[in-house]
Amino acid sequence: MENAVRKLLDAAGREIAGSGDDLEALSELRVRYLGRKGELAQLFKQLGGVADADRPKIGKLLNEAKIELEGLLSAAQDRGKEKVLDRREPFDVTVPGRRPQAGRLHPITQITREISKIFHQLGFETVEGPEVELDYYNFEALNIPKDHPARDMQDTFYISDDVVLRTQTSPLQIRTMEKRRPPIRIIGPGRTYRCDSDVTHSPMFHQVEGLMVGEDISFGDLKGILTIFIHQMFGSDIGLRFRPSFFPFTEPSAEVDMQCVMCKGKGCRVCSQTGWLEILGSGMVDPEVFKMVGYDPEEVTGFAFGMGIERVAMLKYGIDDLRLFYENDLRFLRQF
Ligand code: PHE
Repeated sequence: MENAVRKLLDAAGREIAGSGDDLEALSELRVRYLGRKGELAQLFKQLGGVADADRPKIGKLLNEAKIELEGLLSAAQDRGKEKVLDRREPFDVTVPGRRPQAGRLHPITQITREISKIFHQLGFETVEGPEVELDYYNFEALNIPKDHPARDMQDTFYISDDVVLRTQTSPLQIRTMEKRRPPIRIIGPGRTYRCDSDVTHSPMFHQVEGLMVGEDISFGDLKGILTIFIHQMFGSDIGLRFRPSFFPFTEPSAEVDMQCVMCKGKGCRVCSQTGWLEILGSGMVDPEVFKMVGYDPEEVTGFAFGMGIERVAMLKYGIDDLRLFYENDLRFLRQF
């Protein structure tokens, strides 16, 4: 028995030394000698057959052999691991790391915030209102009665006879004036809906409404505020024109055109060779609208405007297809 232990230690020692500290070979040796069914375990099994008097001595011998083998294998494995590390390419700690992809705000959100910021600096305050809106606020109170031809201008999604998806943010004018007394300076960004869909129209889109009401608000104020806004948004070298127009809730009304941002007014595909781009609708609040909210048109005046946010974003970033805003293609969104 003593011989068998010595032979086993000799053989194992030689093999471990001959392994070249190769990790795979070492783990095989560990199984072979120290494993549950390994060679040392076999010798432990024979302990029962040893004479009573010798058993303590042999048992001690076996335990010592186990500890010795354990030590040899562990030392060889440690050396093996060191060698693996040494063999690795040294790495350059100055190489820049890979940045995690950060999310970002949707371009429509960014533009909405940019528009809002400009008006906030001019003393305007943001208001919100429902997207599922009463016919009364979307049309009636804005001087568009049930049989008015102007209803055809806006392909309305009807929820019921009296409830619509708002086709414009203008109902915010009424909701604000019903709740407050002048002076009023608000903007109202939000989603709007029209039954319309092609390269330049989406059934859901965004508008920003603006309203300023007070004692001596004039068309000059309208021009001043909107000029400041467009110059801050698109650059102070952009030319503007106020073109007479019609809206049932403003009188007089004007659409505002700005010089084409693509060709600077020379004429191109984007501006249909005119050199001008329509950017918003505006006008002096119609006295009929003031009467609807209980204001005296002899005492207060005001102006309102509304613009499409997608349109502002398209002109600002030179985007020619509205649908890109809604497809959530990361290659598009990552550019903002
Ligand atoms: N609501 C109008 C539209 O959607 C825009 C507008 C708002 C015009 C306010 C005048 C005053 O076309």
